[in-house]
Amino acid sequence: MKTITAIKNNKGKIPLTVITAYDALFASLFDGKVDIILVGDSLNMSFNAAPDTLSATMEVMLYHSKAVCAGAKDTFIVVDMPFGTYTDEKIALLNASRVYTETKAHAVKIEGGVSRAPIIKALTQNSIAVMGHIGLMPQYVRSEGGYKIRGRTEEDILELIADAKAVEKAGAFSMVIEGVMADAAKRISEAVSIPTIGIGAGVDTDGQVLVWSDMLGFFTAFQPKFAKRYLDGASLVQDALDSYIKEVHDRSFPAPEHTYTK
Ligand code: KIV
Repeated sequence: MKTITAIKNNKGKIPLTVITAYDALFASLFDGKVDIILVGDSLNMSFNAAPDTLSATMEVMLYHSKAVCAGAKDTFIVVDMPFGTYTDEKIALLNASRVYTETKAHAVKIEGGVSRAPIIKALTQNSIAVMGHIGLMPQYVRSEGGYKIRGRTEEDILELIADAKAVEKAGAFSMVIEGVMADAAKRISEAVSIPTIGIGAGVDTDGQVLVWSDMLGFFTAFQPKFAKRYLDGASLVQDALDSYIKEVHDRSFPAPEHTYTK
């Protein structure tokens, strides 16, 4: 397993690989292969069919985090703090502490830059490792009126760089940069000394993260531009299911090798 120090020292080396997982089965398939597994609140959309991440709760995140930790014992695990669970330092400390006391995860992730820096600092000063998340922040979807790609103007790029520096100064060990123009993400990555993990942020970040169900082609409701499918999971499942139904109907399953006989 890559330790937090190894992750921090990875800047400028081979890009870090991060994938989400929500359950023990898939976590065990990813275990020991990727550098970091993220129990993302995106589970609310791909597992719970919700329109966004906002209704994910602390209880739901803890439940899935325990499952992921049980499946992946050899990978650094980060847990998303859900919407409304880090509104001030005290609330953030109470909720983030639950991730350490109730699961075996190694760090939490918090969305927000300059405005969230005091919260990140409160957690890191109390021995809770934090991954930041700047750029397009899914938990801001309602207040921002949609998902908007950031870093299109010089003014916005400077704001993002300020966010990244504030997150770093507050003690985060790395940060996700989501939905940011590639040239802006490159400048942000160059402006900080901790690793940046991109999603929809081009190739010049210090690592990449994908949501597992996008990456493996199981989530087909829509396909964001950045979400490359490495497998056509949904079609494979549907083809297998069609074969199973056909074989049950024509009694070719169960065959003798699947049957207990004397
Ligand atoms: O919830 C999630 O899956 C995330 C990634 C998109 C980084 O935050």
